[in-house]
Amino acid sequence: MLPIFDRFFELTEAEPLNRFQSAFKTQILHRLDARSHGRDDEWQAILETLPSPKKTVLRFDSGMVELRSQEDIDLQDLTKALLALKPWRKGPFKIFGVEIDAEWRSDWKWARLHPQIENLSGRAVLDIGCGNGYYLYRMLEAGARCAIGIDPTRLFSFQFQALQQLQPKNAAALLPLLDEDLPNCAFFDTVFSMGVLYHRRDPIAHLKICHDCLAPGGELVLETLVLPHSDSEVLKPPERYAQMRNVWEIPNLHRLQGQLEQASFTDIRIVDVTRTSIEEQRATEWMEFQSLKDFLDPKNPELTIEGYPAPTRAIVLAKRPNPGH
Ligand SMILES: C[S@@+](CC[C@H](N)C(=O)[O-])C[C@H]1O[C@@H](n2cnc3c(N)ncnc32)[C@H](O)[C@@H]1O
Repeated sequence: MLPIFDRFFELTEAEPLNRFQSAFKTQILHRLDARSHGRDDEWQAILETLPSPKKTVLRFDSGMVELRSQEDIDLQDLTKALLALKPWRKGPFKIFGVEIDAEWRSDWKWARLHPQIENLSGRAVLDIGCGNGYYLYRMLEAGARCAIGIDPTRLFSFQFQALQQLQPKNAAALLPLLDEDLPNCAFFDTVFSMGVLYHRRDPIAHLKICHDCLAPGGELVLETLVLPHSDSEVLKPPERYAQMRNVWEIPNLHRLQGQLEQASFTDIRIVDVTRTSIEEQRATEWMEFQSLKDFLDPKNPELTIEGYPAPTRAIVLAKRPNPGH
């Protein structure tokens, strides 16, 4: 097991979530077994080549998650190691001067949502589908007591492990789990689900999982694809959407609101609707595959190459009701 998985157990030992620790352990072992990846050994070997500076600090500078050290670090070797963990989808990061210009300017999404959400100071936070953990760091920056992420994609665990290994222990952890592995824990003060809902065949089941992980009165921060105009209720692409294979449904805002209500959420507020730009999601040296520009109709960027409305994302906030209030 990667040490980042152990960190979760340390962080939650003195929390009410501790009664679910053995359930988490069983699921982690099950997923590691079921989803082992042919490149695990290669990625593990890369982690072993990373430098181990004694003193580093975590800083946040213009949306960049940055690690600094006073020590002499071989930047050529570090760049080589970090590049070997490509593709970097979420960022940007700056690691001892090496800038990881990821596919997504994840800081732009954070800038859209952060002023709108409940203050994270002192809160226990869960990020479902957290990718490489970029937002876990932003949650710590915002004062979260602990920031727990889950994501089944193996490479992202290794990227997060690389970042964690280069700095002192912090209050972030990532587990290699799926949403359906989460226990009904009613523990977290804020649950984030960003870029996950449209990948779930049963969106209401996903929203119910988010609901059940929240403490009463807790806040859901949902970010997902929506139809920009409300004339049609839902798009269910029979094959690909913007070249993505596993997009099950894209609702309009009215339908999305109804789904949240069905999952027992209240106080539903749509705080942002933004069309994704080719500046926010693009190919870089750190993610060399095709990106959004290649998935849009070259003659009409309002449409995907399949002829559907181009990706537009909404940020929606909602509460798990607190019966005592
Ligand atoms: C589009 S990315 C979004 C990443 C990040 N939340 C963001 O907003 O930038 C979707 C992520 O969800 C993860 N994912 C896919 N299915 C999942 C599931 N059933 N449970 C949890 N995460 C899932 C993927 O591995 C991927 O990292």
